[in-house]
Amino acid sequence: MSSVRFEPAGSLRGRLHPPPDKSISHRAALIGAMAEGRTRVYRYLDSADTRSTLGAIEAVGAGVSIISSDDRGGLEVDVEGVGLRGPSGAGIDVGNAGTLIRLMPGWLAGQAAGEWSLDGDDSIRGRPVDRVMEPLRQMGAEIECRDGRLPPLVVRGSELRGIDYELPMASAQVKSCLLIAGLLAEGETTVREPVPTRDHTERMLAAAGARLRRDGDAITVSPAERLEPAEIPVPGDLSSAAFFLAAALIVPGSELWLEGTGLNKTRMGLLSVLSAMGVEMEQGSVGGKGIAVEDIGEAGGESFGTLHATSSALRGTEVTPEQVPRAIDELPLVALLGCFAEGETFVRGAGELRRKESDRIAGVVEGLGGLGAEIEAAEDGFRVHGGGLRGGEIDARGDHRLAMLGAIAGLASREGVEVHGFDAVKVSYPGFERDLRLLLSC
Ligand code: S3P
Repeated sequence: MSSVRFEPAGSLRGRLHPPPDKSISHRAALIGAMAEGRTRVYRYLDSADTRSTLGAIEAVGAGVSIISSDDRGGLEVDVEGVGLRGPSGAGIDVGNAGTLIRLMPGWLAGQAAGEWSLDGDDSIRGRPVDRVMEPLRQMGAEIECRDGRLPPLVVRGSELRGIDYELPMASAQVKSCLLIAGLLAEGETTVREPVPTRDHTERMLAAAGARLRRDGDAITVSPAERLEPAEIPVPGDLSSAAFFLAAALIVPGSELWLEGTGLNKTRMGLLSVLSAMGVEMEQGSVGGKGIAVEDIGEAGGESFGTLHATSSALRGTEVTPEQVPRAIDELPLVALLGCFAEGETFVRGAGELRRKESDRIAGVVEGLGGLGAEIEAAEDGFRVHGGGLRGGEIDARGDHRLAMLGAIAGLASREGVEVHGFDAVKVSYPGFERDLRLLLSC
């Protein structure tokens, strides 16, 4: 197992293009495979997870050509689609990718014939798939999985009918799966979400010619004959940029510009939490302290911009269940920020964290606790009291976001942190350590 040590840092300074967005990359490959003709993806994320999705679409017959790669973790990729009704039967290895194992069955379940099995690594085998299996079965799908809950999954193509489904949990993955299945169903399919979740699938399907409408908390999709290929530019991943954003805030004397970062409103929960923690927010100007959002643009239906962050005093806050879905992948960082805030930070309604690449409530509470944090777990969140971090050792538990959390904790700690299992970063951000060290030496 790889171990890497992160020493207390003087400051982080400079400009960085965060790697391309993981969620958008998965969808670009899948929707490209479902289209008829050639989809070109600009800045497709080059990571273990998104390579799994390229492998999966190739396994069902789509063509994948990597045209070029840049030095910031992006690939230019051509996807030759097989069409909505064209995937061939296969065994699919999803690796560590939860998004892939949840979205792809929606496409496969509605085929006229064929059989597919989907399986992955040990972490995937512990992640619930009944959340997509049950509503797909209501649509008429033939699906089985282990113990009625866990991968591997076996999907057989069958006729689907549209349903009106209220999501029992806020999940963009389940929503996306059902909207994709709805393209192949008879009649309309409506998905109702308790709280808005990331909407990249809706945006990308609409750009490919699908008919979707939103009415309050309900999204309705109509059956489609075909999807049109498109050119898809992928913005930088806010969830990857968030590690540097947090580092800039808690390592004194830091100033960073995170360029080309995706600013989709359904992903921006961390910024509202930071504002509640007392970080000054500015839009469109060069900020003094806190965070300024600059150079805002739009491409491929998604907004992006530069996050300009400088170190800032923090105060504790309460993150409510309504705020959770927009910040779900950044909540481990909220725990770290809470270690450097005055008073108490409290996260509730985040039980979904226990079902991510690892149990992130246990990983964060035991991990930061081992570094000297005053932190305690609840079933659906955690409570942390500010007081800084001593340092020590942390286990990434095979989870990319915990590995990066440990690294940033090391920079802000008094004695440094050794991260065990650091190579888990390859899942979403293979160049993380290189980028971090560049900003430390600027
Ligand atoms: C994702 C949705 C979220 C998120 C995950 C990626 C997506 O999961 O945690 O990292 O790409 O749709 P849920 O939809 O299960 O909350």
